[in-house]
Amino acid sequence: MYRLVCIECGKVNNEGSYTCECGGLLEVQFEDVEIDFKLNGRDLSVWKYRCLLPVNRDPVTLKEGGTPLYEFSRNLYVKHEGANPSGSFKDRGMTVGVTKALELGKKAVACASTGNTSASMAMYAAKANLRAYVLLPSGKVALGKVAQALMHGAKVIAIRGNFDRALELVRIVCERMGFYLLNSVNPFRLEGQKTIAFEIVDEIGVPDYVILPVGNAGNISAIWKGFKELEKFGLIDDLPKMIGVQARGANPIYRAVRDGRDYIDPIKNPETVATAIRIGNPVNARKALRAIYESRGTVVEVSDEEIVNAQRELARGGIGVEPASASSLAGYRRLIEEGYLNGDEVVVCIATGHLLKDPEIVLKICGRPIEVPADFDEILKVL
Ligand code: F0G
Repeated sequence: MYRLVCIECGKVNNEGSYTCECGGLLEVQFEDVEIDFKLNGRDLSVWKYRCLLPVNRDPVTLKEGGTPLYEFSRNLYVKHEGANPSGSFKDRGMTVGVTKALELGKKAVACASTGNTSASMAMYAAKANLRAYVLLPSGKVALGKVAQALMHGAKVIAIRGNFDRALELVRIVCERMGFYLLNSVNPFRLEGQKTIAFEIVDEIGVPDYVILPVGNAGNISAIWKGFKELEKFGLIDDLPKMIGVQARGANPIYRAVRDGRDYIDPIKNPETVATAIRIGNPVNARKALRAIYESRGTVVEVSDEEIVNAQRELARGGIGVEPASASSLAGYRRLIEEGYLNGDEVVVCIATGHLLKDPEIVLKICGRPIEVPADFDEILKVL
């Protein structure tokens, strides 16, 4: 059994709400669940954990989850969420969110996005035969993501403004038009994303740290909730520390934690090469700060150069990710340098999205292919 509860005032809300009357974020709370899965490392997928997912009908699924967890170096694991159907972790949330849209009888779904949410939503809406509407910050979304949203049939609207503004606007659009809002302010989406925690424990047990990029701050909140639920239902005894990574030009959560605050000061003009996390006013800040403080974790900021270097390092180790995703490894490297970590801890970095999402950044970093006449001697010259 589950209820939708306000994290600020504790009021129980109905399933159609996104936030409480008091303005607080909502959270799904489970009680008296009969756990019917085994943490045995087998058959990983989002829906393996269905007894802890708040849906009441057959799910709209594209076989999301079950992503590879690589041991990148000693004690350092990388969970490659780019291996999901649309190439990012968002699919875990969308399989639940779009299922909920059908359950609530919605005919259309909508989101604002830095790209991946829109790609994923468009894909699942297509599968569910729902109309999909997307608001993007014009010129600031990686090409692969726009391509996905368009091809899966969403109506894609680029606004001359940033992501934070797009989110404000899409909330109004949803309210006026009756569309179902599928940004991470939607508590059901986060329920799907918490399965990242379930899968990590399923495969390697509880790590000491989980490190991941933080943009709109939903995923760090979701993963922490996942670990806490496993503890609540007696499946684990320990909890990891949650470490968020933000780009230096888009770092409101970093600043809040640095100053010991439980609220953020929004950043007006966020900027970073990692366009996925180019966000100045993260909607889930309150949940994310709670996850970080409760777990006794931290937030680290990294430069664009560190992000790009980490992207290259992962790629040269056989793991192709987009810049935002590489910020988790960049954060790990920085924490080692600062002596916060010493390499003996078991750490899982979440690689949130696939390399192919952002081909343009690759050309900027790596240059273009060498072009030569179609002749053996000419090829020999450049080998
Ligand atoms: N990594 C990638 C690749 C993302 O696309 C996002 C968020 C994040 C990390 C941060 O996750 O928002 O839960 O803190 N992308 C959203 C989008 C904002 O619209 O695709 P978060």
